[in-house]
Amino acid sequence: MQDERSPFQKLADLLDGVVPVNEKDAQPINMTIGEPRHAFPDFIPDVIMKNAQYFRPYPQMRGTDEFRKAVEDWLNWRYDLGGLPLGEKNILPLNGTREGLFHACVGARDYARSQFGKDTSNAAVLLPNPFYHTYKGAAAAIDAEQIFLNGTAETGFLPDLDELAKETDLLDRTIAFYYASPANPQGNVADIATWKKLIALARKHRFFIFADECYSELYRETPPAGILQACEGDFSNVVTFHSLSKRSNLAGMRCGFAAGDGAFMTQWTKYRNLVAPQVSMAIQAAAAAAYRDEEHVKENRMLYNEKFDAARRILGKELPYETPPAGFFLWLDVSAFGDDVTVAQKLWKEVGVRVIPGSYLAREDRSGVNPGDGFLRLALVGDLAETEEALTRLRTCLIN
Ligand SMILES: Cc1ncc(COP(=O)(O)O)c(C=O)c1O
Repeated sequence: MQDERSPFQKLADLLDGVVPVNEKDAQPINMTIGEPRHAFPDFIPDVIMKNAQYFRPYPQMRGTDEFRKAVEDWLNWRYDLGGLPLGEKNILPLNGTREGLFHACVGARDYARSQFGKDTSNAAVLLPNPFYHTYKGAAAAIDAEQIFLNGTAETGFLPDLDELAKETDLLDRTIAFYYASPANPQGNVADIATWKKLIALARKHRFFIFADECYSELYRETPPAGILQACEGDFSNVVTFHSLSKRSNLAGMRCGFAAGDGAFMTQWTKYRNLVAPQVSMAIQAAAAAAYRDEEHVKENRMLYNEKFDAARRILGKELPYETPPAGFFLWLDVSAFGDDVTVAQKLWKEVGVRVIPGSYLAREDRSGVNPGDGFLRLALVGDLAETEEALTRLRTCLIN
């Protein structure tokens, strides 16, 4: 039996009543939640105030022309799409990507039935493992079988598409594949060849790729390739999800977008008109302004990169890990020091550093292996001084 509690619930239960021994001397440091803490761009409140009259009317689901144009321009610039007009049908604002990722699964099931003629009574949804828990919640809500595809050191921390391609029966009943690049928690990214392989599988077996690219702008050096780049102008079977939560530190503003397959988006918009949250037009105006500014994103990346440099310095050779190409998590192999749950407990108790055991972010695969075993996820979201302090305490606790 798999444990269905959320990772955060499991951690709260694990550490319930455990008080850090030196709480009086050292402030506990929380590295569990992926909530950005850098400043958001200072022009945001002004844009919202200037558009405050739009708090009165209901916004339309499809978004304002201004928002869609800003997103279209940004996608063209970021992914070098050659001025491709994405058009009204290809872009939808979201109230944060989480709701979009959830509702997309319902859209995929409806589309599979009505347009692909699939029998969805035995539908499967593919997910990475470890995974963002909303994917699983979405698959569960439509009663689809959840198929977890491990992302381990051997697979480059992404699902192994060559192995998957052999499972033709499974792929035929698949309706959606949630594919995160950059991956959460590992931070690994798909290259163009991988995206193309994935698109070919989706078209052959007629399912949707829900490419979760919400960490795409938090890269170390090289901007990760996006799935739209690999589409070469044909977006069928592809929907990408982007968010301002991580790019612009605006998690509380709740704004992102979905872009891709126009036929899917048209049908999905009808469904969304019944049940999904629209995005306020004042918020869309602020989001459009955020997508038209890259300076704050550069600054944001620099702050994360400083922390990854500090991690390399502090953790050194004793704690082996690869600096992830993107994202703000450190996926730390601590298997040399015990199992991840015990190590997380020890860190909290002895040095007041709160982290998530990797096994809580994943689940056992068909052969009983949990790919998160032996890892910790550390969110580098605090400021540099706090991050350095946390990593120094971690090192002291585990090594000397
Ligand atoms: C992998 C991944 N996808 C999506 C989201 C949702 O982000 P938001 O709803 O703020 O856009 C998160 C948030 O932590 C995430 O880690």
